[in-house]
Amino acid sequence: MANAGVGGHVEGLGATQRTDNWWVGPAFTFAVFTAWLVYFFWAAAQGRYFSAGPYVSPFYITFEPAENAAVAQPTAALWGYWPAAWPNWLSPALIIGALPGMFRLSCYYYRKAYYRAFFGMPPGCAVGPVQVDYRGETGLLIVQNLHRYTLYLAILMLPLLYLDALHGLFWQGQVGIGLVTVMLLVNAVLLTGYTLGCHAWRHLIGGKLNCFSCDGVSEARHGAWRFTTFLNQRHQQWAWASLLWIAFCDIYIRLLAMGVVPDVNTWHGVTWMGDF
Ligand code: FES
Repeated sequence: MANAGVGGHVEGLGATQRTDNWWVGPAFTFAVFTAWLVYFFWAAAQGRYFSAGPYVSPFYITFEPAENAAVAQPTAALWGYWPAAWPNWLSPALIIGALPGMFRLSCYYYRKAYYRAFFGMPPGCAVGPVQVDYRGETGLLIVQNLHRYTLYLAILMLPLLYLDALHGLFWQGQVGIGLVTVMLLVNAVLLTGYTLGCHAWRHLIGGKLNCFSCDGVSEARHGAWRFTTFLNQRHQQWAWASLLWIAFCDIYIRLLAMGVVPDVNTWHGVTWMGDF
């Protein structure tokens, strides 16, 4: 056990009197976040295999490049094809990903997770931090205060996720449902749960209110606040589930577009990938 200094704390990076496996959480976070980011930037740089039949990967919601039509047969993108004049290196996934990326980067839960896992500031509760002149979220990190504004934009994106998922119900003039439509709807629900559990959202709908039962509006706000509180208490779980599920959706649609996995659906009973 490390020697205790003034106030019962010990000095030095990683120094602690804790006897539990405190490092497992930050190490797991570091490994998964790193793997996720590597996969996202790889998938974004591909610019193909992100669409199969009526399905579009949530990394690429709303529009897609025309040169991939022969590969992916995209039909569901909200804005249609990627304009021909658009530079190939500027992947739609990078543009679309920037907004939720800023939202997650400034999220209160994620700040705790990556400050610990990537920067050791500190690595854990009652564990010695990296020795730098840390001044909290001032200076450059004051940009984290923009979180509430990224929230507004993230909320605007939610209907687009449902819209893209529901597009999957229509294919070649028929109405049906496939496994990926269900996956995309689950993705939209998980992202809704994560977004509406945001601390800034909870403050927005329930803050600055002295009476929860004085009129219909305040009662409605109370109801919304209670629901958001339920989500907020599980914000970490929603954050992880939505992060991993969106990558899982992209991987499945990618494999589907490549013909590696089948799609169970109600149009042809088993799969339509062989019909192209
Ligand atoms: Fe996590 Fe706002 S605090 S999304």
